[in-house]
Amino acid sequence: MTEFETILVDTRGKVGWITLNRPDALNALNTQVMHEVVVAASAFDADDGIGAIVVTGSERAFAAGADIKEMEDKSGLDMVMSDHFGGWAQFAAVRTPVIAAVSGYALGGGCELAMMCDIILAADTAKFGQPEITLGVIPGMGGSQRLVRAVGAYKAADLILTGRMMDAAEAERSGLVSRVVPAAELLDEAQKLADGIAAKSLPSLFAAKAVLDAALESSLSEGLRLERHVFASLFDTADQKEGMAAFREKRPPGFENR
Ligand code: CAA
Repeated sequence: MTEFETILVDTRGKVGWITLNRPDALNALNTQVMHEVVVAASAFDADDGIGAIVVTGSERAFAAGADIKEMEDKSGLDMVMSDHFGGWAQFAAVRTPVIAAVSGYALGGGCELAMMCDIILAADTAKFGQPEITLGVIPGMGGSQRLVRAVGAYKAADLILTGRMMDAAEAERSGLVSRVVPAAELLDEAQKLADGIAAKSLPSLFAAKAVLDAALESSLSEGLRLERHVFASLFDTADQKEGMAAFREKRPPGFENR
């Protein structure tokens, strides 16, 4: 895989790992990080030996936001013409399930990056927030939209209008985080969770992710129609035959991603 400067990339079993690695800036997300994460995630997505991706940071910070120093002198026109955060849409469009393993700060763009993932696993040290209002701006990588869908309008307004942080327990209660684990166990737990997902049939994982994403964007009737169609289409895969035969024969399935 390509050489990277701001992230570490490796493969553990069928799981692709992307570790944000700008320790001096608490993993602030500058343009280079965005491009590198997109390249790495797209390469994992194109590899059918990879069944899940984990994105993580350091113990101290998942990511403390978009890089303020990179942005501060830009004009509105600069932001528009460069489509400053535009590349992140490619990350959010990855078909492979993505887990955010969050320890420490997940603020601003860091919280928004976690919300582009499918599952957020948090260390008990994790702190989430959208502090952009304290900088005289608002969330710009999807926070105002994804946070409302994740935690509801009123909790999202509380966070976005005050800029306050919420701890891992509150984030779990609010439905942002699926599970909180002791910080020392975060990476092992993320690997276990990802291994469990990656053992499934990739076509069914792609399908599940697509209909879950659609649930956030469509009406109930449209979503149900899409689900019925996608559900039926999986009956043309060899893995559906294998999965159901394995159930009948009381053995584990051997999926081949076809
Ligand atoms: N951008 C650029 N640099 C950052 C950064 C960011 N978002 N967050 C931290 N850093 C840098 C600091 O400037 C500091 O660098 P120097 O040593 O060169 O000064 C280094 O990381 C360590 O940070 P602190 O000394 O501030 O560490 P701390 O422990 O005292 O505080 C913190 C930690 C509370 C997270 C604090 O760093 C902080 O408030 N960071 C900014 C959080 C923020 O506002 N994020 C939103 C950014 S805007 C955004 O994300 C827009 C969007 O929607 C996409």
